[in-house]
Amino acid sequence: MNKKKRILSGMRPTGKLHLGHLVGALENWVALQGEYDNFHLIADYHALTTSLDTSEIYNNSIEMLIDWLSVGLDPAKSPMFRQSQIKEHTELHLILSMLITAARLERNPTVKEQVRDLNIENISYGHLGYPVLQAADILLYKGEVVPVGEDQVPHVEITREIARRFNTQYKKVFPAPEPKLAKFARLPGLDGNAKMSKSAGNTILLSDSPDTIQKKMGKAVTDPLKIRRGDPGRPEICLVFYAYHKKFNPAEIPVIDRDCRSGALGCVDCKANAANHIIEYLVPFREKRRQYESNRNHVEEILHDGEARARLVAQKTMKEVHEAMGIG
Ligand code: TRP
Repeated sequence: MNKKKRILSGMRPTGKLHLGHLVGALENWVALQGEYDNFHLIADYHALTTSLDTSEIYNNSIEMLIDWLSVGLDPAKSPMFRQSQIKEHTELHLILSMLITAARLERNPTVKEQVRDLNIENISYGHLGYPVLQAADILLYKGEVVPVGEDQVPHVEITREIARRFNTQYKKVFPAPEPKLAKFARLPGLDGNAKMSKSAGNTILLSDSPDTIQKKMGKAVTDPLKIRRGDPGRPEICLVFYAYHKKFNPAEIPVIDRDCRSGALGCVDCKANAANHIIEYLVPFREKRRQYESNRNHVEEILHDGEARARLVAQKTMKEVHEAMGIG
């Protein structure tokens, strides 16, 4: 039997997850969990680059884990764990930090993006080293495939460069991981922004109530030239059509396209319909989430079990790293 390839994927615990996470990453993780050997990381140290306030990190990690479990990640198959609880991440991070130039990290496009989003003038050493910590996350588990959104592809490239450098300098320990993009890698936000994100305030949370989903969808931007029912619309430029109906209501696409163009369908009804399909889509999720929410001890057990399993793999890799380097 062929050995399954290893997946390593992760997210920063910024709180409850939204549809963008589901469509851009989580559905992919769930779909791949039979075919691959999956490890899922809660990047709580990486979260420090967004805010130094740690008061919500634990709670956010648990909420994120509940979301992961509720979309169908199976803890029996795939360990889920916090980066901070496995010391080997920081150890490997230090070693890898010697194998890449500061100039290369300064050229990393996502660092520039983050600095712009956070509105900060001087970045920390930790911001610059963000992809090095991510490389440690991936390589510690010898991740071969990294299912990520588009914005993370430069970090996987940096990981490959570091892995190559280690392997030629010392001994071949690491595979060269490859990114794997989801089909809808980027779901636009309700405000028409290219990306759904917490900081832009344009999200639908997986855990939003049906009522909230209806209200949020009611505010989504549509074709600005279609002001009232009867006006002909242009579905190709309307995100409610090309993103939400396409993803969550594919069966009605031809009818909506026709009735929007003719003016028979108004935006209010069209959005209510999209919201209903999203609500419907999330029914199994909502049910599972309720169960996990009412049993947080069980969720913590899952986390601790995942951490114990991940730690064994991490320790084994570090032993190989030290041997390759002739130290320890
Ligand atoms: N940087 C990733 C993000 O913001 C999160 C992350 C941390 C990650 N470590 C990882 C993703 C390792 C994939 C693999 O989305």
